[in-house]
Amino acid sequence: MSVTVYKNAQFPNEKTTTNFVVEGTKFVQVGGDTSTFEKSADVKVVDLKGKLTIPPFADAHIHLDYVYTANLPTHETSSGTLFEAIDNWSESKSKLTVDAIKSRAYIAIKQQISHGVQYVRTHVDVTDPNFTALKAMLEIKEQLKDYMEIQLVAFPQEGYYAYKGGADLVEEALKQGADVVGGIPHFEFTREDGVKSVEKGFELAMKYNKLLDFHCDETDDEQSRFSESIAALTYFNGLQGRTAASHTCAMGSYNNAYAFKMMTKYKKAGLNFIVCPTENCYLQGRYDSYPKRRGISRVDELTRNGLNVSFAQDSISDPWYPLGNGNLMHQLDFGLHLSHMMSVDEIKDSLKFVTSNGAKTMCVQDYGIKDGNTANFVVLDEDNVFDAVRNTASTILSVRQGKVIMEKAPETVLTKYDF
Ligand code: FE2
Repeated sequence: MSVTVYKNAQFPNEKTTTNFVVEGTKFVQVGGDTSTFEKSADVKVVDLKGKLTIPPFADAHIHLDYVYTANLPTHETSSGTLFEAIDNWSESKSKLTVDAIKSRAYIAIKQQISHGVQYVRTHVDVTDPNFTALKAMLEIKEQLKDYMEIQLVAFPQEGYYAYKGGADLVEEALKQGADVVGGIPHFEFTREDGVKSVEKGFELAMKYNKLLDFHCDETDDEQSRFSESIAALTYFNGLQGRTAASHTCAMGSYNNAYAFKMMTKYKKAGLNFIVCPTENCYLQGRYDSYPKRRGISRVDELTRNGLNVSFAQDSISDPWYPLGNGNLMHQLDFGLHLSHMMSVDEIKDSLKFVTSNGAKTMCVQDYGIKDGNTANFVVLDEDNVFDAVRNTASTILSVRQGKVIMEKAPETVLTKYDF
């Protein structure tokens, strides 16, 4: 079995560097004296030169079946709103093919890998009786498992009930291999249908033993309160930690009395929150003049209340959002700004939003640089967390199951300055 000793790794906020040993696919020794390993003839030694070494990035919310569709003729939006984008998507998605979806997804996944992402939860639109996107993503999930752990959400983009037969399509997608039950209660026709869709989602999750992740309250409408239904059903069904509410933009518009009450309920439910900083600061506030809301949930208050919050990409160039490149350091930069979380201590503690918190939401087993865990880690081109965040540091090495899956030359300025 191959053995590699990695020397001089800088773990976040540690005073000194650490050596660690990877044997085959596992970390076998993290820290301590690695000289015995180094003396063996067939051992490879890699000097990480004090660069920041962390567990891989985890993107808990993206739509890989939508990537690079922004410029398709029917996909231009005039309003820049979520709801116009959903209508445009509905009109054109029947023309998509498995091969076209796969070839676009490969480009996005390569970008994600180049940014150190190894865990991805992707929502797959199942409001399509042909399951074109699901077929494509099931193939990709299996094909690329050595590069990335991909979870598929059975996501009814057009609703459980707003789309005829949507609930049955979600169930069928779970039978075909989707890992997570999705939903979009704020898109259903009525509040009652929205609550009913959440209830149906929980029924399916219990029946098929799946995780849950709803697009939830992705609107500036302060009356949109589906996170309370999700929290209640999580709590009463004993599914703490297995459920996520994505977006929760409306929480930024809730009155404090309601928001503060809900914090204790979310806590009891162990609800995970996924926030998509660039996507929602672009999509929300579209019905405001000034002041304009920026679509951000209460990341600071949720975090202070001990809730698990992660930042995610959501879109790469699709009808909902024109930019995006899979770099979660960019999401972290935006997320910290929009959430007013920029004290020195908050910045030093912020990598969790794009690493461990996303992995926790995805219920990833075996995550982290520890003895006995699978040897998955990345190295950033900085030597401390503060500068890594400030400079949105590049990932220069990604190791998965003990193998290098991505290596990048550090950026070098060639110009000689006279000062
Ligand atoms: Fe989404």
